Amino acid sequence: MTNFDERAKDWDSDPQKVERARAVADAIRKAIPLTQNMTALEYGCGTGLLSFALQSDVGQITLADTSQGMLDVLGEKIASSGVTNMHPMRLDLATDPLPTERYDLTYSLMTLHHIRDTDDILRKFHALLEPTGYLLAADLDKEDGTFHTDSSADVHMGFDREELWKKVESAGFGNVKFSTVYEIAKKIGNKKKTFPIFLMVAQKH
Ligand SMILES: C[S@@+](CC[C@H](N)C(=O)[O-])C[C@H]1O[C@@H](n2cnc3c(N)ncnc32)[C@H](O)[C@@H]1O
Repeated sequence: MTNFDERAKDWDSDPQKVERARAVADAIRKAIPLTQNMTALEYGCGTGLLSFALQSDVGQITLADTSQGMLDVLGEKIASSGVTNMHPMRLDLATDPLPTERYDLTYSLMTLHHIRDTDDILRKFHALLEPTGYLLAADLDKEDGTFHTDSSADVHMGFDREELWKKVESAGFGNVKFSTVYEIAKKIGNKKKTFPIFLMVAQKH
């Protein structure tokens, strides 16, 4: 059982996680014109907070994650809400074959920093998009390592925007833009600290 499997049941009880998903959804709506003809892939969906916030703006959404615990909670939420356009999928793009479907949008929230090989995942996101599709990734700016209190967590300590920009362009994307869309507040020891979250928008070309 992974750390995320264990945390899945309580994930939505943190109001900050719900609020940040709504803030990122608002920023995505402002960044690109969403239509119900669009298909989307959310990668690292967790319990689906971001996709539930975008669910009525787009057409079919595939929600992928490696954590079965997260996918189980997501499945229960989809069943109890009655929505019909959200489809969970267990997928690890690092090891599984690339799905055959292509999407108009691929988006992620707080997932990129959990993936060891950033260049590889960006190339796979590029391959999964339709010819003028968009990649939207919301994640942590470079931080000092205090964001993850679990010292065993195997993660990137956020991203330097310029470095990520170059990687995104090398993967074949253009029209890259960054904006700050949220700040996560955390208590580190007895001090309050804020961690900015960027939204990166890029288009396949
Ligand atoms: C910090 S959580 C964010 C969940 C959700 N996006 C949110 O903001 O509430 C990171 C998520 O990425 C998933 N994840 C971690 N590594 C992954 C990988 N290699 N491929 C797909 N998902 C992964 C975890 O299982 C977890 O659900």
